[in-house]
Amino acid sequence: MKFFIDTANLDEIAEAQALGVLDGVTTNPSLMAKEGITGEENIINHYKKICDIVEGDVSAEVISTDFDGMVKEGEALAALNPQIVVKLPLIADGIKACKYFSDKGIKTNVTLVFSAGQALLAAKAGATYVSPFLGRLDDISTDGLNLIAEIRQIYDNYAFDTQILAASIRHTMHVIDCAKLGSDVMTGPLKSITGLLKHPLTDIGLAKFLEDYKKGNS
Ligand code: E4P
Repeated sequence: MKFFIDTANLDEIAEAQALGVLDGVTTNPSLMAKEGITGEENIINHYKKICDIVEGDVSAEVISTDFDGMVKEGEALAALNPQIVVKLPLIADGIKACKYFSDKGIKTNVTLVFSAGQALLAAKAGATYVSPFLGRLDDISTDGLNLIAEIRQIYDNYAFDTQILAASIRHTMHVIDCAKLGSDVMTGPLKSITGLLKHPLTDIGLAKFLEDYKKGNS
């Protein structure tokens, strides 16, 4: 299972990268705005900085909602670095653009996916990644994990290459449940990754080992 971090915060990206388990980064316009990154030039420079920190795929989302605009933006983003994955919304023009980029061998991440049917369309358009937003489904009393299971079944039935990128992850249990369901990737905040480290028995056990070492070596 690949671990992506869902942020535009460079310190958090660097911290996850330093842990040695980071496979990529996802961003979106809201996450960029949260870091105060506005304006085309600043956003482009920020993507470059992210690519310098991580070794894996970096999703960069287009703002256009029409095919021509998405193609123009996506080509400019993809030209920045081979790590860039063009992130496209699941609307008709997004699916058309996905097919266009996929035919050209440019990686894509189809985002804002909330149903199995949408995920099927993204796979048929040749998406590299599909991003079902499980946390946002949970927010409206709908089982986000069930969507991951449905997409897994459909993709396996037809051996689609599209990777399921479980997005809108909120906490460690989402990560574990997505891993059980066979999600190819998860993207979440730093705490959803570092939270996996935590167990009181690990801390208690380590303290005891160190205490016993000291006794034996004093
Ligand atoms: C996915 O790529 C999105 O950036 C993200 O996971 C959305 O998460 P949120 O629902 O916590 O905003």
